[in-house]
Amino acid sequence: MEKIVSLCKRRGFVFQSSEIYGGLNGCWDYGPLGAELKKNLKDYWWRRMVRDRDDVVGMDGAILQNRRVWQASGHESTFSDPLVDCKETKARFRADQIFFTPVIIGGEDHGYTSVSESPTMADAAKDKIRKLQKKGGIKGEIGEVDLKPLTEATPEQLALIPSPNTNTPGSLTEPRQFNLMFKTYVGPVEDDSNVTYLRPETAQAIFVQFKNVLETSRVKLPFGIAQVGKAFRNEINPRNFTFRSREFEQMEIEYFCKPDQGLEFLEYWLEERLKFYEEIGVQREKLHVLDVPSNERAHYSGGTYDIEYEFPFGIQELEGVAYRTNYDLTKHQEHSGKSLEYFDPETKEKFIPHVVEPSAGVDRTVLAVICEAYDEEAITDEKGKETVREVLRFSPRMAPIKCGIFPLLKNKPALVAKAREVQKLLRPHMDVFYDEAGAVGRRYRRQDEIGTPFCVTIDFDTLGENGPDLTDTVTVRERDAMTQERIPIVNLLSYLLDRIR
Ligand code: GAP
Repeated sequence: MEKIVSLCKRRGFVFQSSEIYGGLNGCWDYGPLGAELKKNLKDYWWRRMVRDRDDVVGMDGAILQNRRVWQASGHESTFSDPLVDCKETKARFRADQIFFTPVIIGGEDHGYTSVSESPTMADAAKDKIRKLQKKGGIKGEIGEVDLKPLTEATPEQLALIPSPNTNTPGSLTEPRQFNLMFKTYVGPVEDDSNVTYLRPETAQAIFVQFKNVLETSRVKLPFGIAQVGKAFRNEINPRNFTFRSREFEQMEIEYFCKPDQGLEFLEYWLEERLKFYEEIGVQREKLHVLDVPSNERAHYSGGTYDIEYEFPFGIQELEGVAYRTNYDLTKHQEHSGKSLEYFDPETKEKFIPHVVEPSAGVDRTVLAVICEAYDEEAITDEKGKETVREVLRFSPRMAPIKCGIFPLLKNKPALVAKAREVQKLLRPHMDVFYDEAGAVGRRYRRQDEIGTPFCVTIDFDTLGENGPDLTDTVTVRERDAMTQERIPIVNLLSYLLDRIR
């Protein structure tokens, strides 16, 4: 993960937000290549989920909504995480992300220790116990580590559990609920009547505009409304690079259907979304589907699947596909006093539609695409030296730059002119990068590092210096296999378009 974070910074994918002022925890800025990658992802999602379909329309709602939206949806009263503080270091944790275990040495009980959630937390807990043993000069074999989340601790246990930052028993406060919404005031007066929140999900604007979309778009059940946009959550513990941020983007669809179709569309959307991830270059083997058990789902949910990805820091959620029954529309109908019913022209019945919601995170998907693409490969360079090639094997569809364009030498005006001609030819159709600096091998390496799938070199053969056969042809080098093909310039555009769409 460190290598990926470092590459992202070095090559301009992702920077810490407000970096020159020491950053702002949980916020990230996308640099030139990151912005392109993110845009490619959002555009492709929109194309596949909205434009390619007859049954989904798009919308673009405001980030600020009337506070009553968040009261009706339940966010104001219940959108919270359990927070605990370390009394000594003042560090804050999410109680469900701290795990504790009894410390058993030589069959005897020595209190508790705790660690933060991570794929290696069992080892971290063992290490801590070993240190305690050494420090206390306690003899005997270390017993089994049995980690449980802090949310399951009894008050008696909580009084004895140390914070992950200290070894002092009882150094954590009792968990209390912390609302994750960012509060703000609308207008110049900062009083309670002007309070609202930055939206913590894009979904609610869709529910609130359900009737307007229905009446203006001539859609019939089943149909979906899709939206891409920013969401904000004051996460207690932002972490794992962009994975858990305080400002992030979502790509959500609310797919409305008849009450008896909910479960069927839940399965349908799970499959659709899994296909999507494969289409953007995430291998099916790295995706996991978690059928969320009913006791862990929202009370109104008729079924939820989490689509998870094997990140280097563990298997973590990319997207939730949830059957939310008719809960949201019912709540908004109740609170607004406006009918959100659907009139079925066939059966002449009126009812509140049910909904299936595939809700994906843009930033998490970008991170998964980068993690999936990152590779190191031992190669022999043009001077015969063994080196490591760092390469991002993006699917050409997602790659920020589709084609590098290189004149063999920068001081030969005829080569440069031809290369500029090729650039002009390709530019209206794809993102290209013109590079004339350094040896061609070095230029290839730079493009490999940012995941450019193709590089085109213009050489003396192109100029016709070695006979008419190769005149106006170029070398196209492919990133992964590093194979080179000679292609006539007249065929270049269609050759590349076939491979990047
Ligand atoms: N409307 C449903 C909803 O918002 P969610 O599971 O809370 O459901 C959906 O969020 C997706 O949004 C997640 O699967 C994840 O990809 C993304 N997401 C949620 N919180 C995030 C955060 N703090 N940072 C980055 N992405 C986040």
